[in-house]
Amino acid sequence: MLQKTPQKLKSMSKKIEKMRQEAFAQLKEIKTSEDLEKARTKYLGRNGLLAQLFKLIPRFGLKYRPEAGKLVNTLKRELEMNLRSRYNLLHREKEEKKLRLDITMPGISPELGSTHPISQTMNRISQIFMNLGFKVVQGPEVETDYYNFTALNIPQGHPSRETFHTFYLDSGELLRSQTSPVQIRVMEKQKPPLRIVAPGKVFRPDATDASHSFMFHQVEGLMVDRDVTFADLKGTLSIFVREMFGSGVRMRFRPHFFPFTEPSAEIDISCIICGGRGCRVCSFKGWLEILGAGLVDPNVFRAVKYDPEVWRGFAFGMGVERIAMLKYGITDIRLFYENDVRFLRQF
Ligand code: DAH
Repeated sequence: MLQKTPQKLKSMSKKIEKMRQEAFAQLKEIKTSEDLEKARTKYLGRNGLLAQLFKLIPRFGLKYRPEAGKLVNTLKRELEMNLRSRYNLLHREKEEKKLRLDITMPGISPELGSTHPISQTMNRISQIFMNLGFKVVQGPEVETDYYNFTALNIPQGHPSRETFHTFYLDSGELLRSQTSPVQIRVMEKQKPPLRIVAPGKVFRPDATDASHSFMFHQVEGLMVDRDVTFADLKGTLSIFVREMFGSGVRMRFRPHFFPFTEPSAEIDISCIICGGRGCRVCSFKGWLEILGAGLVDPNVFRAVKYDPEVWRGFAFGMGVERIAMLKYGITDIRLFYENDVRFLRQF
């Protein structure tokens, strides 16, 4: 009996090796959790093959018992590990299947933005003039005293400088207080005849309220040719007013003064809210001022070396916010700059 024990251990070791190979081969083929569970019971269940092996251990002599136990325990641990990794694999495949794209599911639509009402208005104004043969140009927001004032016939110390309150920079430059300097920049570079509009930002140190902002937008216009008259200005602006506000809106010219035009005028339209009868928007006047204009002053032509005896021109400048507010019935200019989507979504 004692001598037989090493023999028994040997045959047990063989049996275990065979079981290991069978088990691993079987586990490798498993495709479903049900089969996996069956295999687990077969080997590790209460009456499973491993349990039967454990029952054999007491039959070994004391000396060989630990050795026999170790053989069975090792197989047990290997089987447990293999079953666990099989389980993980099957589980992961199942999860991945769940995540696979379901094209029948309703999508999540991204929120669409829209063009800002000021840009929309500026684009619309530009488009109307483009249809009349004007080209859209741009100039810098940081300007020099020369372009913003001097070349526009507003010399140093001229009282009309005060009407264009200005932000000055440490560099000696300034933030343009009007888009009119673009006229000069264009004429310096281009020979007449020409027709341009220049939309863009302007800056003035005004206290902010419902109708004022330190930054706002203008569209400047300029036409130069040999025989431009005030009638061309009137005709062009009446087309603009009709296209922008509709054919029922009337227009009037009021004499005014601008240093860069002579003669100059301010242009009103009949109130688009009350039709001219008088309301709060037009301060009960029936008219709304929308732009300034005139015939280009000969001094401006001289500044850009155009011969004022040969060339004639008209120019105009309008506030974009003003026009957008009238068109959309907006009563507070600050709404444009607050980035409140509840406001912006309406355009
Ligand atoms: N630059 C003027 C302003 O900001 C508007 C203006 C008036 C522009 C008459 C012109 C013009 O070109 O001819 O108030």
